[in-house]
Amino acid sequence: MPPIASTASSSATAVIGSHPAMQQVVDIARRVARMPATVLITGESGTGKSLLAREIHAASGRSGRFVEVACGSLAEPLLESELFGHAAGAFTGATSDREGKFLLADRGTIFLDEIGTASPALQVKLLRVLQELEFEPVGSSDTHRVDARVILATNDDLAALVASGRFRADLFWRVNVITIEMPPLRQRVSDIPELASHFLARAAAQAGREVSGFSTAALGAILRHPWPGNVRELQHAVERAVFLGSSNLIEAADLPASVLAAGPAGGDLGQGESPLKQALAAPERQLIIDALERAGWRRDMAAQSLGINRTTLYKKLKRLGMDVADLHATR
Ligand SMILES: Nc1ncnc2c1ncn2[C@@H]1O[C@H](COP(=O)(O)OP(=O)(O)OP(=O)(O)O)[C@@H](O)[C@H]1O
Ligand SMILES: [Mg+2]
Repeated sequence: MPPIASTASSSATAVIGSHPAMQQVVDIARRVARMPATVLITGESGTGKSLLAREIHAASGRSGRFVEVACGSLAEPLLESELFGHAAGAFTGATSDREGKFLLADRGTIFLDEIGTASPALQVKLLRVLQELEFEPVGSSDTHRVDARVILATNDDLAALVASGRFRADLFWRVNVITIEMPPLRQRVSDIPELASHFLARAAAQAGREVSGFSTAALGAILRHPWPGNVRELQHAVERAVFLGSSNLIEAADLPASVLAAGPAGGDLGQGESPLKQALAAPERQLIIDALERAGWRRDMAAQSLGINRTTLYKKLKRLGMDVADLHATR
């Protein structure tokens, strides 16, 4: 199949993650890549929305270009002209005709990022181009047709923007056909080691340094940090450690203070536990949460799917300071 894959070992791809939530993302992306359908990618900043959009285009088999537009970056009418082009004289400074990004994306993919920031006027134009693949450049009455696959991304809650009147309901229903939700990194802790190793290898190669891995304390801190900036924050923390560090291993002290601030693991895990146990607590906790979620929060079934008996699961829950009822309530 095309280049979307989910392991670091695949050479062509960039999307790393074997957590079930990421596997599901990659699976949907792979299935929709070859369809013409509009795709909306949602998720917090840094979760990999732009990366996935590029991967969907790469796997689409479409011969044209991947054209990216940050809808929040330009004010009207520049954004409209950026998207749809303009005729000479359409506004001050428009000295000649200009092609817009939709035309550049013909037979390719147009990626409309930060769609939640689109102005009301732009939303009207987008609705039309999404419905009919037709538009007129600013200041022109010529109608253009394009064959561009549209991918949109947002870290806003579009439904909430619709409710507050800031996003058109008709546009929302038009873009909300195939929605791929990128899970935040804190909900797929088991992917962190693979991502961290990937960024480490890449940064070490760039810096021409020999760095073989993470110290147990550094890995423990990395696994405990909640990563509000998601994969981007992890990438930057690892790159910084590679560029600034001086030993063969990334040490805890090489990590940003914000990453170290998460402190030791919760529950009964304290100073008495070995560093290895502390480092393993976060992925163990995440695997148990995943199993419980899949089992509809039934402990007996979750234990069975983990290949352990119920008593062992109870002991682990206690040792890791996990309360199933609390966890269930927060999901
Ligand atoms: N699953 C992943 N595997 C490998 N690299 C990833 C993954 N997810 C994100 N990255 C990397 O993390 C960085 C941030 O990802 P990206 O820019 O796609 O996030 P985003 O969701 O588009 O963020 P924003 O909302 O701020 O635009 C990029 O350098 C990207 O290559
Ligand atoms: Mg992005």
